[in-house]
Amino acid sequence: MNKINRIGVFTSGGDAPGMNAAIRAVVRAGIYYNKEIVGIYRGYEGMIEGDFEEMDVRSVANILQRGGTMLKSARSKEFRTPEGRKKAFEQLKKSNIDALIGIGGDGSFTGMHHLYLEHGMPYICIPGTIDNDIPGTDYTIGYDTATNTAVEAIDKIRDTALSHNRLFFIEVMGRDSGYIAISSGIAGGAVSIIIPEEETSIDELVEKLNKGGKKNKTSSLVIVAEGGKSGSAMEIAEKVKEKSSYFDTKVTILGHLQRGGTPTYFDRLLASKMGVAAIEGLDQGKTDAMVGIRHHDIIFNKFDDIMNQPKDIHKDDLRIAKILSI
Ligand code: F6P
Repeated sequence: MNKINRIGVFTSGGDAPGMNAAIRAVVRAGIYYNKEIVGIYRGYEGMIEGDFEEMDVRSVANILQRGGTMLKSARSKEFRTPEGRKKAFEQLKKSNIDALIGIGGDGSFTGMHHLYLEHGMPYICIPGTIDNDIPGTDYTIGYDTATNTAVEAIDKIRDTALSHNRLFFIEVMGRDSGYIAISSGIAGGAVSIIIPEEETSIDELVEKLNKGGKKNKTSSLVIVAEGGKSGSAMEIAEKVKEKSSYFDTKVTILGHLQRGGTPTYFDRLLASKMGVAAIEGLDQGKTDAMVGIRHHDIIFNKFDDIMNQPKDIHKDDLRIAKILSI
């Protein structure tokens, strides 16, 4: 691989708290290692249109603590086509960009992989998504903050649930992944946690809720990950209501609230470590890979080694949730 002098950095897919900290780390580490850094706006959309800007140390001042992404983000349909990727590659060449660092989820990683295969553009992916659903890393940037946001909301809902003796179904994000649901469910003391990775029997859920009611349980919170096989929080609540009129039931969907806000120390630290590692990795000739963290150590995984495997939820977390929700 030729020496890399000029690197394009971008964020793509759903934004995640800590993306700004990662951009800052990439820009500052890049400059530290005498690279030129170019910011690419609006993810792959901006790459196709050549929406680029030179970055310097000051361009990333005062963003470490901010949610969202200063480079903006998008989900690009055009980039999913070979024609779209060709246009993007031509823009990158026109700006003499010889490598990319993209911060995003599995779709963003897949996009960079295709650009690498079709046009030989070297890259490192930094995992940034609240869903924590990418194999090859214990944590993705944004997951910790989003889970804390969900827990804060769950605690508030518990206050009103207790005051009115109500049953709440709280829907959290995580398209195909139960990570936010299970972690916030354990931390928020949920009676039941419904995740996409597991089948949930409505009869068993109703039985559990009835049991709690008989034991004078005055409020119950059920956490539901969006996109599960059993349906949305609203649908599950309806099914439960059909089988038991015992409860005064409410539904709250936390939605995009979980994507915003000040990143936690954990996400800022993770993003800072991953940003530096991405620059150093490219400099050492690593490509077609994602930086990850395993037991506190930074690692790199090739696309083909991780992207054909699902990221399993920690089975032990499910066991703990069950024991504690009797
Ligand atoms: O991937 C992150 C995520 O927040 C998912 O949890 C959610 O399903 C999705 O993005 C929502 O995407 P959008 O903001 O495009 O509606």
